[in-house]
Amino acid sequence: MSSDESTPLDNLSHEERSFAPDPAFARDAVAQATLYAEADQDRLAFWARQARELLTWETDFTDTLDWSNPPFARWFGGGKLNAAYNALDRHVEAGNGDRVAIHFEGEPGDTRAYTYAQLTEEVKKAANAFAALGVTAGDRVAVYLPMIPEAVITMLACARIGAAHSVVFGGFSADALRSRIDDAEAKLVVTADGTWRRGKPSPLKPAVDAALADGQSTVENVVVVQRNGEPVEWTEGRDAWWSDTVGTASAEHTAEAFDAEQPLYILYTSGTTGKPKGILHTTGGYLTQTAFTHRNVFDLRPETDVYWCTADIGWVTGHSYVVYGPLVNGATQVIYEGTPDTPHQGRWWELVQKYGVTILYTAPTAIRTMMKWGDDIPGQYDLSSLRVLGSVGEPINPEAWMWYRRVIGADRCPVVDTWWQTETGAIMISPLPGVTATKPGSAQVPLPGITADVVDDTGASLGDGEAGYLVLREPWPSMLRNIWGDPDRFVQTYWSRFPGMYFAGDGAKKDDDGDVWLLGRVDDVMNVSGHRLSTAEIESSLVGHPAVAEAAVVGAADETTGQAVIAFVILRGSAAEEDHDAMSETLRQHVGKDIGAIAKPRKVLIVPELPKTRSGKIMRRLLKDVAEGREVGDATTLADSTVMNQIAADFAK
Ligand code: WT7
Repeated sequence: MSSDESTPLDNLSHEERSFAPDPAFARDAVAQATLYAEADQDRLAFWARQARELLTWETDFTDTLDWSNPPFARWFGGGKLNAAYNALDRHVEAGNGDRVAIHFEGEPGDTRAYTYAQLTEEVKKAANAFAALGVTAGDRVAVYLPMIPEAVITMLACARIGAAHSVVFGGFSADALRSRIDDAEAKLVVTADGTWRRGKPSPLKPAVDAALADGQSTVENVVVVQRNGEPVEWTEGRDAWWSDTVGTASAEHTAEAFDAEQPLYILYTSGTTGKPKGILHTTGGYLTQTAFTHRNVFDLRPETDVYWCTADIGWVTGHSYVVYGPLVNGATQVIYEGTPDTPHQGRWWELVQKYGVTILYTAPTAIRTMMKWGDDIPGQYDLSSLRVLGSVGEPINPEAWMWYRRVIGADRCPVVDTWWQTETGAIMISPLPGVTATKPGSAQVPLPGITADVVDDTGASLGDGEAGYLVLREPWPSMLRNIWGDPDRFVQTYWSRFPGMYFAGDGAKKDDDGDVWLLGRVDDVMNVSGHRLSTAEIESSLVGHPAVAEAAVVGAADETTGQAVIAFVILRGSAAEEDHDAMSETLRQHVGKDIGAIAKPRKVLIVPELPKTRSGKIMRRLLKDVAEGREVGDATTLADSTVMNQIAADFAK
């Protein structure tokens, strides 16, 4: 493990507490326990069985995995299927058309419910409308929408006609949206006038207008959902209201089956360099593993469960565990548009009570925030419907895990800490609630059919009790297939550090029981409230400002958000004479405008010099020490060892 990285959980991974599987899960436990043995014996046969049992194929596949050209995998070759048909039509055909697919709750309190029959009809209309705008199989559609049912409808309508969606988180800026549109060469953008945030209308369409203002993009049409009713600018010939296009389209549409490897979506994520990577996911393998994990990790019983994943569709969790996993499994779910503290801090628990939520899937940062708000807030609601609690996005510290289990789960619901990534497409390491005795803070065991391992610098497997790098030794069905338009970067980023293995970028440790503990990123990727940000991306935004000469960004441990962005900048010439507080604020706003509000540094410290080695490499490790309030570590390799004294003194002011 690189000495540059602190391992905040290291001292905690000697966990003694353990919670035996609840007997209520016994029905599935036997069957689930056999999955490990089955997959161990023949991994590919195991995945082939899952693919056939969980999905409906128009043409059965003939080749489970083609790994003849690694790391470019092809799963379920020869198979043909339609993702939207699997998520919708087949449930209606099976007689479950009246089951609620989505209970939508808007932030202002407006509600809508869609049954599977109704959702199918809406998706058919949207598919016809997008096709009428010239979108065909293989095209890309950018989606810039809030958490409203139209987001799910849009994604499934794209899938239905074989177009890949590229969802851009609504919190990202116009510039970030444009660079993603350009990279994917999107033909259509689907957006909304805006959404509701903390009781106020919050705009989206103006960012689309700004992104497309030069008229030079590949976008031909913009479809606009009316959500908050705020006035918007209009570009005749390009813009169309959802109600006029989708609303008037025919509800007859037969889904065409596509190849198992048909691109399903591109989702951009931060890497170690400035430019976000377009992670490409395809159809058959992705649907197999999202459905498998959603069913088994959450012990889903589609007839009776009410599932709620709080993630936004702008992130992979929203793709896999709001849209594809739950709908392919025929689940009933809650979708909530707004913030957890609007109009009051009990809003989530009010929703759990109102809809009788049985399975809740959320992020450690939310759990820690609610912990801070106090036990008496959830205490005011009836949470007895809950039976499984999931966590995702970053390491969950044992105390937050215990609070989640005790206060939200009445010391009765198993907590499943699920490790995975945008790139893995679906959950990879997690307990199974009926099988695994859970341990606060550990994601524990690779799922059946997944070969995760912890290795040392040379790629050799480590034993129990040792810390190193998390790798995946064999391909898995929902793995990314490529970085959009950049196969060299795909090979370089994920498959070159340890030849023959996928390197995830995370440090990990196996405890004495062989359970896996995730120790955070070992690269320059930060994790702020479960969102991935790269230091390089924020640095390049900062140096893009005319006042900045140089910038270094670190992620500093933060009690609530996991990490916080801290920037150190050297100003250019005369800018250095300006008021530092005002300049810091200007630079924070600049990053917010450039990338999005989530990327705004918590603090921008203006410094005369950055700590550099004699070869000119910035020693971020030392800056991190300062940002985390520690004694500054070994600075002897610095070209000028006094630099850090000045920075530490300024930071403490
Ligand atoms: C990175 C992936 C998976 C969907 C949300 C984030 C961290 C994720 C856990 C967990 C410890 C976790 C890793 C990973 N991470 N889940 N349960 N325990 N760390 O997806 O934006 O692609 O980020 O999130 O560092 O590499 P993402």
